[in-house]
Amino acid sequence: MSRGLFITFEGIDGAGKSSHIALLADALRSAGREVVLTREPGGTPLAEKLRELLLHEPMDALTEVLLAFAARRDHLRQVIGPALAKGQVVLCDRFTDATFAYQGAGRGFDGEVLSYMELLVQTGIGLNGDLMLSPDVTLWFDLPPMVAAARLADARAPDRFESEPLAFFSRVAQGYADRAAQAPQRIARIDAALEREQVAAQVLAAVAARGWLGAGPHG
Ligand code: TYD
Repeated sequence: MSRGLFITFEGIDGAGKSSHIALLADALRSAGREVVLTREPGGTPLAEKLRELLLHEPMDALTEVLLAFAARRDHLRQVIGPALAKGQVVLCDRFTDATFAYQGAGRGFDGEVLSYMELLVQTGIGLNGDLMLSPDVTLWFDLPPMVAAARLADARAPDRFESEPLAFFSRVAQGYADRAAQAPQRIARIDAALEREQVAAQVLAAVAARGWLGAGPHG
């Protein structure tokens, strides 16, 4: 089955994913791949509207879950599925692991319900047919919540999640760690506490190790 690559980026707010997504996009393009950069919630006109609501309107955890998955469904159908079908590389800033970490671990929402919704929303998308579409690899930027909070302190006006206390981010961080332990093949841990160059090197190494930068067996 000829299919593109689906790479997602995760971590608590302040972990510093953004600049590394752009660097990886450059590296993949240099290796001759077509790259689509996108984000969640968001990536389509509908999903960007849902993002606005999720980040700024008061709501309970179930409503957060419903909006996140509604946005994801539209994003998968309109952007991610078609790009993968064309053989492109999709780099997505956050995906379902964020729902498990933020709504699951952070808000205490039922993980079994999340797993069911994950299956429902990620099935029936393009080339994957009846199989659940999941990322080929997830780069998890792991950073102690205290360090992330210090980095966020200088940032622009915080949204609903960024305004949460340290205890919330400790739960979210634990949620990511648990998720990584359950899917060690898919989720690659990036030590985001290191210097920027070293973080970038880890990102490239994780992708190169899978043969996706042209040097490996499947390049
Ligand atoms: P983020 O990706 O950090 O964007 P920015 O860099 O512009 O702040 O913001 C998205 C926020 O949405 C982040 O705090 C995590 C949250 N979120 C969820 O709570 N659940 C989800 O399923 C997703 C995808 C994101």
